[in-house]
Amino acid sequence: MPVITEIADLKRLYRRRVPKMFYDYAESGSWTEQTFRENTSDFNDLRLRQRIAVDMSNRTTASQMVGQDVTMPVALAPVGLLGMQCADGEIKAAKAAEKFGVPFTLSTMSICSIEDVAEHTSKPFWFQVYTLKDDDYMQRLMERARAANCSALVITVDLQIMGQRHKDIKNGLSAPPKLTPSSIVNMATKVPWGLEMLQTQRRFFGNVVGHASGVSDPASLSSWIAEAFDPSLDWDRIRQLMDMWGGKVILKGILDVEDAEKAAEVGADAIIVSNHGGRQLDGALSSIRMLEPVVQAVGNKTEVWLDSGIRSGQDVLKAIALGAKGVMIGRSFVYGLGAMGEQGVTETLNVLQKELDGSMALCGRRDIADVDRDILLVPEDFSGRYA
Ligand code: GLV
Repeated sequence: MPVITEIADLKRLYRRRVPKMFYDYAESGSWTEQTFRENTSDFNDLRLRQRIAVDMSNRTTASQMVGQDVTMPVALAPVGLLGMQCADGEIKAAKAAEKFGVPFTLSTMSICSIEDVAEHTSKPFWFQVYTLKDDDYMQRLMERARAANCSALVITVDLQIMGQRHKDIKNGLSAPPKLTPSSIVNMATKVPWGLEMLQTQRRFFGNVVGHASGVSDPASLSSWIAEAFDPSLDWDRIRQLMDMWGGKVILKGILDVEDAEKAAEVGADAIIVSNHGGRQLDGALSSIRMLEPVVQAVGNKTEVWLDSGIRSGQDVLKAIALGAKGVMIGRSFVYGLGAMGEQGVTETLNVLQKELDGSMALCGRRDIADVDRDILLVPEDFSGRYA
């Protein structure tokens, strides 16, 4: 078993194990990938204040996200196609999250279905939906999520149309995949991955095929996706979807103060400052730069979280210090999952918690609830330069 001390270790193993087309799907942003790159590099502009001679014993990273107890304020983001990164990937990631004590969010575009994940876990997980046109399908998805005891709905609000990712097009990553000769050759070299995939029946979109009208087999999925997303989305529709669910709602994909104010107005339980991991509007600011203005505007009305760019416990600490009540991770756990399944996701969570805990201590704090902006050195123009 290789020694894992940081997220980069898992990324290396992941790259080796998984076919290039699925690695590229996770590890890419839209168009020039500027926003994708800055999501991580902008964290480097925030520096931590080292403190000494402060009691560092009896520390805790435990917190709450939308009222739910968490071991640390980190949730697993909804990520499509997890079951292609690793056989039964959604089930494995959900189990690791449950054992660790952090929330798992199942994507509508998952390979394992809502029922598959419910059957293999014992605590409630969260479910994610896109804003789709088909009301019947949305209703049925929500009914299934309720029946599976999902405790919050994450509504992705930044994907009315899809940002173009060059690599996916070149690799033929569509639904279903159009395998190019080089993808086939590459897949043939990924033997352990392939053997595991052959042993599972779960290889198609489990929440869609057989459930959405007109999608009875994987081949009809492509045209469904092209038609399904709702380009006419507005705040009335968001309100309607929130009412349709009737429970806790987290709005994911807010990157502007005016939109954050509207999200607070419609009563979201939490909002996620996010640019979809740099996969939607290339050229948008990184999430970490937009965090503080959003917290200042609506932090007293709704929980503000951040995703996009978290690759270490220090990143988690910095986001919390700038006012986030929690964060979501995507790629950081996908690396772990692709590298070594459930154990890899546990490794991701262990690494993040160790780094978060140690860095918090060296900043002179013992409790995540006491982490505030005082532990940071922030350049004056960190969020204001672009206003
Ligand atoms: C879907 O939400 C994606 O980013 O691929």
